[in-house]
Amino acid sequence: MYKAPRGTQDKLPSEQSYWAYVTHKAQGLCQLYGYQRLDTPTFEEAGLFQRSIGEGTDIVEKEMYTFKDHGGDLMTLRPEGTAPVCRAYIEHGMQNLPQPVRLYYLSPIFRYERPQAGRFRQHHQFGCEAIGDEDPSLDAEIIELAWRLCESLGLRGLTLQLNSIGCPECRPLYLQRLKQYYTNHSESLCQDCKARLVRNPLRLLDCKKPICKELAQEAPSITDHLCATCNTHFNDVQRLLATIEIPFTNNPFLVRGLDYYTRTVFELHPKEEGAQSALGGGGRYDLLIEELGGKPSPAIGFATGLERLILNLQRQDVAVPNIDQPSVFITYLDYQGKVEAVRIASSLRHAGIGANTPPGGRSLKAQLKQANARGASHAVIVGGEELERGNITIRDLTQGQQQEIPIDQVVQHLSNLQQGPTASIQNGVIW
Ligand code: HAM
Repeated sequence: MYKAPRGTQDKLPSEQSYWAYVTHKAQGLCQLYGYQRLDTPTFEEAGLFQRSIGEGTDIVEKEMYTFKDHGGDLMTLRPEGTAPVCRAYIEHGMQNLPQPVRLYYLSPIFRYERPQAGRFRQHHQFGCEAIGDEDPSLDAEIIELAWRLCESLGLRGLTLQLNSIGCPECRPLYLQRLKQYYTNHSESLCQDCKARLVRNPLRLLDCKKPICKELAQEAPSITDHLCATCNTHFNDVQRLLATIEIPFTNNPFLVRGLDYYTRTVFELHPKEEGAQSALGGGGRYDLLIEELGGKPSPAIGFATGLERLILNLQRQDVAVPNIDQPSVFITYLDYQGKVEAVRIASSLRHAGIGANTPPGGRSLKAQLKQANARGASHAVIVGGEELERGNITIRDLTQGQQQEIPIDQVVQHLSNLQQGPTASIQNGVIW
């Protein structure tokens, strides 16, 4: 029997309320902050990711789904959302729009990782990118957006970790010191870190192995090596975050797993900590657009993993609104009633009222049971003597009361009843 591939999941109808809730909140925030949606292809030229994420990273070295297509070109399933957004920004001449350009995406992401709770081979990200300005107020805006998303979803106990990893002016000296420190401890490093020491020493700070984590604690700190410009930028970001009351913790060892970052980096962590627990993360990538062939366009962004947000909502028992379900169930007694029921259901839906009819010849009792099980608010009963009188019965399933009304008034009657706020949500995201 076939199963979903390891590390992937079917998003079942019973879980769709969470997906609708999270994507609805995310899109609402984007509207408030002025971010516009951009959808990019699911696969891109492999070189785009190799160049931007960096050759010495786990993603490029071990996790990309890369394949040669029938034309012999090397393609990669999107392992992150930032590089495709930058590619599209350059390709569509967005440098000529008023800067910064604020964009967001909701996309499936593919990484060949070892699956475990909250870590998948196909996951989904909501990400925002503000491109074309290096002002620290944009750093504060992006971090605020990420924080407010988690907060407005109802997640509690969040922490925000913040760091600056400098620029090409100050980082080389720091890397030299870092390399020196780790060379003195190279005996104790894990195999992966021994290789990282040669190829990409910053990644050493990111290793999750206990021995390497312990060594990282004593390593030189990047914030002690920032140049004056990076230092001022970092101080400004912190001042602005304090002004808008976003609580953060400085973590001088936060470096993130992608090579394109400069200056500000940050991560959001949930209450229950774990090696793979980041709910979201991001930072500045001031040089990436230039690296990919565009005009110098400093930028900052973040992405959150939707599966991880949902996992934490479930762990914290956060109640989410239901997705709109048809609220009227049209039951019938006989064949004539069935024909009339199909006609009434059709005209209700035409008037914007969700309606279902039960197929097959079930008893009225069984049909009403199904109406209750589906959470319908009203049942319409069609057939028998009422139908001969030109009437139907409407039963309020929550109150248990019913009344007979003329058949030609059913749409008007139900639309009057349906007005007012409902705690439900539309399912509207196309991946
Ligand atoms: P990232 O930290 O690699 O950053 O991924 C962002 C978020 O995606 C993580 O914090 C996590 O919640 C989720 N995530 C990552 N890998 C998995 C996985 N295997 N299974 C489930 N969830 C996962 C980026 O991708 C950057 N592009 C973020 C960014 C945007 N930086 C600047 N702009």
